[in-house]
Amino acid sequence: MNVNDNEKDTKVEKETPPDVLKWASERLRAILGASNTDALEVMYDDVAERYDELTAAMKYNGDVLTVDALTRLVPNRDVRILDVGCGTGLVGQQLYDKGYRDIHGVDMSAGLLKVLEKKQIYSKLVKARFDPSTPLQYADGYFDVIISSGVFIPSHLTHTCLPEIIRLLKPGGLSLITTRKNVFDEEMAGIKLKSSFASLTKDGVLEKISHEEIDYLTDENDGVTPGLILSYKVLQQ
Ligand SMILES: C[S@@+](CC[C@H](N)C(=O)[O-])C[C@H]1O[C@@H](n2cnc3c(N)ncnc32)[C@H](O)[C@@H]1O
Repeated sequence: MNVNDNEKDTKVEKETPPDVLKWASERLRAILGASNTDALEVMYDDVAERYDELTAAMKYNGDVLTVDALTRLVPNRDVRILDVGCGTGLVGQQLYDKGYRDIHGVDMSAGLLKVLEKKQIYSKLVKARFDPSTPLQYADGYFDVIISSGVFIPSHLTHTCLPEIIRLLKPGGLSLITTRKNVFDEEMAGIKLKSSFASLTKDGVLEKISHEEIDYLTDENDGVTPGLILSYKVLQQ
């Protein structure tokens, strides 16, 4: 299914001035090409005040469509949710608008978190690098749902973070990761989600719920970038 068939769930298109489009496109390219995590963190801090403008200019729909998938898969509003790479809280805002209230967020960028704090959506924010070697200070199985949109992309998180996501989810808990389709299909930039999910499923750790194709973002020059919402249930730790 292509969830963009459901047009009401995508954002209303607005005219973006050409200079803003050019700026957004260049910023995004730089972010995806960051040489290391320190450089990436500085880039996000620098762009923080204009991050929402950047994503609007790129017609980024990952937040809306991933939350839409979550709402269909988890109608219970009382679940505890972790938003990995929460940024300025675009995902959290959508969750909040749909009635979810126990939302935790983790992100490494102090600049983005500062913008997010003003929105007062999340019950707890953690400033940290989501790193497989440094578990977050949450007990095993603390969350019912983990959502992460636009974070498993080049220069950001890789499949090596999946064990920490699985640890943080309770048995029966749901992980929704939204990435670019070519990143998944071609296992670009060392992000081996496709083979990792396949082996975790084969080993009985995860159960595949769905892979939904979406219009992830639209760049005036490059056109539509397709994305995938990867939904998996944890069967065992
Ligand atoms: C493209 S933004 C997506 C933000 C948000 N999920 C959204 O949909 O708007 C990527 C986010 O991942 C965060 N990030 C990247 N690498 C990270 C890491 N190792 N640990 C924590 N956050 C990270 C960045 O700071 C940024 O907020």
